[in-house]
Amino acid sequence: MLRMAEPIIHHRHPEFAELFTRVCGNLRYVFQTKHEVFTLTSSGTGAMEAVVCNIHSPGETALYVNGGKFGERWGEILRAYGINAVEVKVEWGDSVLPRHIEAALEEHPHAKAVYLTHSETSTGAATDVRAIARIAGRRGDVLTIVDGITAVGAMELRMDEWGIDCVVTGSQKGLMIPPGLAFVAVSPKAWERVKSSRLPRYYFDLRAAQKALEANDTPWTPAISLVVGLDAALTMIRQEGIERVWARHARLGTALRAAVQAVGLQILAKEPSNALTAIRIPESVDSGKFSTLLKKTYGITAAGGQGHLAGRIVRISHLGYYDELDMVAVISAIEMALTDCGFVFERGAGIRAAQESFARHSS
Ligand SMILES: Cc1ncc(COP(=O)(O)O)c(C=O)c1O
Repeated sequence: MLRMAEPIIHHRHPEFAELFTRVCGNLRYVFQTKHEVFTLTSSGTGAMEAVVCNIHSPGETALYVNGGKFGERWGEILRAYGINAVEVKVEWGDSVLPRHIEAALEEHPHAKAVYLTHSETSTGAATDVRAIARIAGRRGDVLTIVDGITAVGAMELRMDEWGIDCVVTGSQKGLMIPPGLAFVAVSPKAWERVKSSRLPRYYFDLRAAQKALEANDTPWTPAISLVVGLDAALTMIRQEGIERVWARHARLGTALRAAVQAVGLQILAKEPSNALTAIRIPESVDSGKFSTLLKKTYGITAAGGQGHLAGRIVRISHLGYYDELDMVAVISAIEMALTDCGFVFERGAGIRAAQESFARHSS
């Protein structure tokens, strides 16, 4: 990542064009698509907004799944653009079932798109985007839009093969570089919508991004140092191989879940994401004290719950540049912080469960 400290190159210079061509090719590999992946300079939410304002026209209807903070955000963005946003609500921690989407599409036959969150970061729940894309795809006119912000580069996602129309992500998650870049991958079916959309857009106009891409460039000055860092990060992913990257995340997630259960705690999500794990904190444990101990005493940063889950869960991410020994250190810290909080369990049970899980799912 030291490459990000190098002197800035000019983005209208052939040196950038060469680097950006390689980056775009590697992004297509990570998203598993042959089509364009646009690079925007913004956080992940910018890419979510870019999809909405590029594929809709005023007054259209779209479905979105609210199973957490980020699913809820799709609804907020859609409404900000005057789209009739129909919520498919699931309990936070649960995952929407394909038949719920089928029923919602029956009820709203004019819906133009279904908005999903592959890995709902506020709950650690995963969505079966593949099955839902199949259902939506049967309806001809419905696009499947996936927030892949904690999923891309962590969980199996095959955009073209699974018939997904747009996938968005941000630079700071599975792509392992600092925040500041966001990405939108667009299928040919979604591109037809981009061409006919009548919503206002300027900075995030994907038609401008497409035109610039023809010259291996972006329409506006990109966060050049981040693009340089991304080149290095994508090269790492390419060298490991995307399937192995997914398998490593699955191995880490499986081991942490086994460890958490072995110490007597519960996982919030019924269908857990492999990018992060939300652990239910028992009432006998002060979640604030637990998180502070993890951070200040053991050097592990964990996130608390959002919305009504505040104080009730702790979220541990295992995303990106992360291996088995990192996970063992995290589990040790969890065990020690739990002990410090007075929680009674068999010490070492989590570490043992994780090691057994690693042995069962060796790389
Ligand atoms: C699933 C998901 N969607 C959307 C976002 C918003 O991304 P950003 O904060 O980069 O705008 C996040 C951020 O954590 C996320 O995890």
